[in-house]
Amino acid sequence: MQGIASIVMECCELLSNVSEEFGALTRPYGSRAMREANKVVSGWMRGAGMTVSQDEIGNLIGHYQGTGEKTLVLGSHLDTVRDAGKYDGILGVMIAIACVQRLHDRGERLPFSIEVAAFADEEGLRFGTAFLGSSVYAGAFDEELLNLQDQDGLTLREAVRAFGGDPDALKPEGRRDGDLLGYCEVHIEQGPVLEEHDLPVGIVTAINGQSRVGLVFDGKAGHAGTVPMEGRQDALCAAAEFVLEVERAAKAEPESVATVGEVATFPGAANVIPGRAEFSLDIRHQDDEVRERLRDHLKMRAEEIATSRGCGYEWQLRQETRAVPTDQDLSDLLAGAVEDSGIAVHRLPSGAGHDAAQLAGLTPVAMLFVRCKEGISHNPAESVTQEDVGVAVEVMDRFLERVKEGLSLS
Ligand code: GLV
Ligand code: MN
Ligand code: MN
Repeated sequence: MQGIASIVMECCELLSNVSEEFGALTRPYGSRAMREANKVVSGWMRGAGMTVSQDEIGNLIGHYQGTGEKTLVLGSHLDTVRDAGKYDGILGVMIAIACVQRLHDRGERLPFSIEVAAFADEEGLRFGTAFLGSSVYAGAFDEELLNLQDQDGLTLREAVRAFGGDPDALKPEGRRDGDLLGYCEVHIEQGPVLEEHDLPVGIVTAINGQSRVGLVFDGKAGHAGTVPMEGRQDALCAAAEFVLEVERAAKAEPESVATVGEVATFPGAANVIPGRAEFSLDIRHQDDEVRERLRDHLKMRAEEIATSRGCGYEWQLRQETRAVPTDQDLSDLLAGAVEDSGIAVHRLPSGAGHDAAQLAGLTPVAMLFVRCKEGISHNPAESVTQEDVGVAVEVMDRFLERVKEGLSLS
């Protein structure tokens, strides 16, 4: 498998240069870089014998015709975070194409079609949401999101149109053909567990739920040299107090994680007291009740902190997804393929969000994690080995065999 694995690695390398930023990989939804990535990847899909289309939000869909009526979906996403690694999302798309390429090279048609989905937005970098692409595909898109604005004030509605889609055609059907066998996503683990177990791949049991919130503290801008410390309404000080409360509260709730990853202050000058702070909040937990409890607590604390500092506050719940278990039967087929490859089966939950969480509302889902170096992800240091990629391709190859056998038995 090392031949095909080296091609997958080269393709990931190549795509890492398709970016909005010079010297860093940043590929937000609807960007010029995204358009370019779709163009490059659609060429690879065609080369692997697929017909290719792009849906209204910009998901790229490759179709490899089988001999039967049913379809198995493979894939992941092509968008990235800011200053991203080379493999988050992209690896899953490339391994899916590699599997089809191998069938095509052998002139083999399976008793089911394969659809390779390269989703247009999983990270939510541009609009502060996640899963725009896969939610459309799954028929779960929330139309209210069309009014979200990016940092330049452009709405998602405008961004969809600019990317060539019709924003009024994103709902409600998705890909509800009723002929789907399932969805299987390969993804880097983004954590240290497989490395600790000295295993190249693992089977995902569940994807944690998440809440994404946009917050604002409104204080009073003023002269940094003349306004006494007493009585200031410094919006950034309020935000700072809140950020530490986020850390404290998440540590107090076992296995929860909460992050403030974006902060902007206005007007933003060294000699002006910040009059306004806008920031994000991301909360995750495998148990939805715990996540909701933490969310409600932090909302209450945001209000208290704002009031005690004489600031106004806004809390905009941008998006929530519930924790999603993967499908037992499909995951067992995947685990069988891992065993067939001579590898011990290790099952683990995912702290990161994945497109599979959206697809689970449409069809059974399974996920294969690939070991990554030191568990580092959302970071340019993200790293996987060619050997492990080769194992993942082999496992997916055997998984297709098992799906085929399962079909012939049914
Ligand atoms: C996606 O990588 C996420 O979990 O935020
Ligand atoms: Mn990611
Ligand atoms: Mn991802």
